[in-house]
Amino acid sequence: MTDDRLSAPAAFRNRDPILDVLRTILPVRGTVLEIASGSGEHVVHFARHLPDLVFQPSDPGIDERRSIAAWVADSGLPNIEAPIALDAAAPPWPIAHADAVVCINMIHIAPWQATQGLMRGAAAILPPGAPLYLYGPYRRSDTPLEPSNAAFDASLCSRNPAWGLRLLDDVAALATASGFASPAVTPMPANNLSVVFRKR
Ligand SMILES: C[S@@+](CC[C@H](N)C(=O)[O-])C[C@H]1O[C@@H](n2cnc3c(N)ncnc32)[C@H](O)[C@@H]1O
Repeated sequence: MTDDRLSAPAAFRNRDPILDVLRTILPVRGTVLEIASGSGEHVVHFARHLPDLVFQPSDPGIDERRSIAAWVADSGLPNIEAPIALDAAAPPWPIAHADAVVCINMIHIAPWQATQGLMRGAAAILPPGAPLYLYGPYRRSDTPLEPSNAAFDASLCSRNPAWGLRLLDDVAALATASGFASPAVTPMPANNLSVVFRKR
């Protein structure tokens, strides 16, 4: 029997700091759509610790969706839906409603069109007041990039010139234009940020 489970070491390191923030911003009940679920390790961890929420994982990649399904089956958890194929940049999204949207480490590892689609798509399915949670490394207009993030940015750009760390102000401007309020920003370990937008 094959094992489709992929593993991302960073997901193991950041899942608890992210969960700590999610506990403070997610609704008590409802559906949480995860964009770019990747291996699926995050969604299983969050669903295990937030059993009153239903999680909907997604990813455009077939290997990623197989991995998510395998981790979910392995977990035996009842509050995770089967992964759906969702490219943030391709409207309309194949889901009509969510009570929260979570997107971890996608914005810098995808072309800018994915961020544009993320804002448009999340705004279309979230009710007023609902959160859009982003996690990852960003550029700040008032601070030079930390050496580790500068090296990461250079390696991303060498892999794909359309990738790279985004300026938080640009992401926030896009969000505002799409119908979100100004973000609440929380520094996270290893020079990452949690960025929470609320639908106006
Ligand atoms: C670095 S991985 C992060 C995976 C997971 N969120 C994590 O933190 O472990 C980036 C993910 O973004 C997904 N991705 C890339 N472009 C995307 C797009 N346009 N829409 C949705 N997901 C995308 C990839 O398939 C991949 O799973």
